[in-house]
Amino acid sequence: MAEDVVFQKIDMKGKDIITIHDLSSKEVFHILKTTEFLKEKAKKGEVYQPLKGKTLGMIFHKASTRTRISFEVAIWQLGGYGLFLNKNDLQLNRGETIADTAKVLSRYLDAIMIRTYDHEDVLVLAEYADIPVINGLTDLTHPCQVLADLFTIYEKKGRLSGLKLAYIGDGNNMAHSLMYGCAKVGMNIAIASPKGYEPKEDIFISAKKDAEITGSSILITNDIEEAVKDADVLYTDVWASMGQEAEREKRIKAFQGYQINKALLKKAKQNAIVMHCLPAHRGEEITDEVMDGPQSVVFDEAENRLHTQKAILTLVM
Ligand code: CP
Ligand code: NVA
Repeated sequence: MAEDVVFQKIDMKGKDIITIHDLSSKEVFHILKTTEFLKEKAKKGEVYQPLKGKTLGMIFHKASTRTRISFEVAIWQLGGYGLFLNKNDLQLNRGETIADTAKVLSRYLDAIMIRTYDHEDVLVLAEYADIPVINGLTDLTHPCQVLADLFTIYEKKGRLSGLKLAYIGDGNNMAHSLMYGCAKVGMNIAIASPKGYEPKEDIFISAKKDAEITGSSILITNDIEEAVKDADVLYTDVWASMGQEAEREKRIKAFQGYQINKALLKKAKQNAIVMHCLPAHRGEEITDEVMDGPQSVVFDEAENRLHTQKAILTLVM
C-alpha cells in the first residue's frame, strides 16, 4: 500500500470490531492491507481457506442485502461456515438476555456478527461473549462499511492521508463511522447536514481527538457548498435510516437540497469520486445521473464489502 501505510504484522486475534474509534490507526491500515492481499488472491482465483472448521454466527435484527451476503460468502470462501440468525428465530426475541445469549453462543461459535438498533446491545454482547463480536451496523455506527469505503478510496486514489471527503446528508451511523474512519487514516472530512440532523456531538469529540493525532480536520456544517469545495470524495446516504420509517415524510422536507446531483458534483474536485453505502433512494439523496455516471464507484464499493469482511474475519477469528 501507499506512503501512508506502515505495514506491520499486528495480532488482532480475538478482537471485537465495534467502532473504528476503538481500533488503532495501525490496526485500520492492517485491515486495509489484508483486504488488498485477499482481493488480489480472489481475483487470481486462488483458494485461500485459513478459517477451515470455524463458524460465524450472524444475528440480524434489521434487513440487509450487502452485509448479510458478503459476510456469508466471506466466511464460506475462507473455508468456514456462516449461520444466519434471524432475531425471530432466537430466544432473544422471547426475553432471553443478551448476556446469556452471548455466553451460550460462545460455546458453539468462533465469532458473532450482529446488526441491531441499540449500539449498547452490541457492547453488552461483546462484554459477555468469549469470542470476537463484529458490529454489522447499529443506529450509531457502521464500521465494516467504512473500512470497505476506506479501501475503495485507497484503490481509486492511491492514497488516503490528506484527501478530503464531503458527506452530504443525515448525521447518522454512516456519518459517525466516516468521521471515525477518516480521522484514523488522516483524511479530512466535512459533513453537511440540515439543521437538527447533524452528527452526535460526543462522536465528533472522540473523532476530533484521533484527527488531532493524524493531523486531519473535521468540519460539521449546514452549508453544502462549503463541504464539497475541493473534495476528493463525495459521499451520501439515505435521509431516513432503518428504524426511522415513521419520520420519512418529515425528513424528505428537511433534507431538500441535500442531494448529490450533477451541479453539486461540479463544485468538488474535477476527479472526485462519488460513494454511497447503499441501499440508495434514487432521486432523493442522489440522482440517477450521478449514481450511474462515470465518477460513481458505488458498485466497486459494494464489492469491497466482501474483501474487507474477509480481512476482518481472517484477522480476528
Ligand atoms: N451498506 C449496507 O450495509 O447494506 P445492507 O443494509 O444491504 O447490508
Ligand atoms: N444509514 C443507513 C445505512 C444502511 C446501510 C441505515 O441505517 O439504514
